[in-house]
Amino acid sequence: KEKTMLSVTCKAPVNIAIIKYWGKRHEELILPINDSISMTLGTNELCAKTTITASEKFQHNRMWLNDEELLFEEDSRLMRCLKGVQRLAHINGSQEASLCWKVHIASRNNFPTAAGLASSAAGYACLVYSLARLYGIPLTEELTTIARQGSGSACRSLFGGFVQWHRGVLDDGSDSVAEPVASAQHWPNMHVLILVVNDERKKTSSTTGMQRSVTTSQLIQHRVDKLVPERIANLKKAIKARDFQSFAEITMKDSNQFHAIALDTYPPCVYMNDVSHAIVNFVHTYNKTTGTVHAAYTFDAGPNACIYVLKENVAKLLAAIQKVFPTDSIDTVEYLRGLAVSPESN
Ligand code: PMV
Repeated sequence: KEKTMLSVTCKAPVNIAIIKYWGKRHEELILPINDSISMTLGTNELCAKTTITASEKFQHNRMWLNDEELLFEEDSRLMRCLKGVQRLAHINGSQEASLCWKVHIASRNNFPTAAGLASSAAGYACLVYSLARLYGIPLTEELTTIARQGSGSACRSLFGGFVQWHRGVLDDGSDSVAEPVASAQHWPNMHVLILVVNDERKKTSSTTGMQRSVTTSQLIQHRVDKLVPERIANLKKAIKARDFQSFAEITMKDSNQFHAIALDTYPPCVYMNDVSHAIVNFVHTYNKTTGTVHAAYTFDAGPNACIYVLKENVAKLLAAIQKVFPTDSIDTVEYLRGLAVSPESN
């Protein structure tokens, strides 16, 4: 008997950028002006979980995010991802009738979407990976070019461990792909601590902020031409050698530089708040007292801190954080990292 329905469920975690992506050279294709490198977290925390069902009985493509329905067919980024994976399946030789069936997609984040914790990266990575599983196509660099068109940073969440997103040079974006630099197992004691800073203020979205930086910042071109390429090379060396000292210095410097560009934008994009700056000061003071660098902060387009720290130093660092920061300014959460996207069932 012919199948009339297909269903898959997958999970994908958030990734935390070490060298930041900031600025597009093509808005629709989401082509970045610089390379970036991130680490993908584990599949147990900070994840998107997505179930996709395809059926010949469905009349429309529909999607629910955290139980609320979106206008899927009117959302160009979502439709680009769906069409992109279907096209890839077709090129890969799939003749299946199911490629024409409409899909119903239910996605959930196991963390607050509004907390500014890269929910779109996990969400689009999960969407594209789930579609690939649905149509039976493998996880390749080409698949990352589709996730990239949902949300730029999503392409990095398709792989576990340390991942580089190449800016590429081609106009069609086919070489703007994510590529693993080192697996999660390569540096198994690397941990991330996420300090969720209470902050009610609405920040400028990354899309708007990037556009404004590219058109108004006088510093951004120097970062792109000279500083990022050097940093990418040095960071890859540090990761390969498991050199935490160098890794930490590059991580903190790149976070600071990204926020300097954000402030050099006109009008400025102010993402960090007083608590964020207090965390920066705390980390530098803490590193001085421990003699060697034990902690490296990084901030995305919001006030929350991600702190890279080796497992053996987590307990001591957490105790120091809890002593310095009262619980009403920060909720501390610890997350491990491990494998990237994974199918739950088929
Ligand atoms: O992919 P987007 O549009 O959410 O942009 C992400 C931008 C940063 O988080 C600030 C940096 C990065 O590389 O993830």
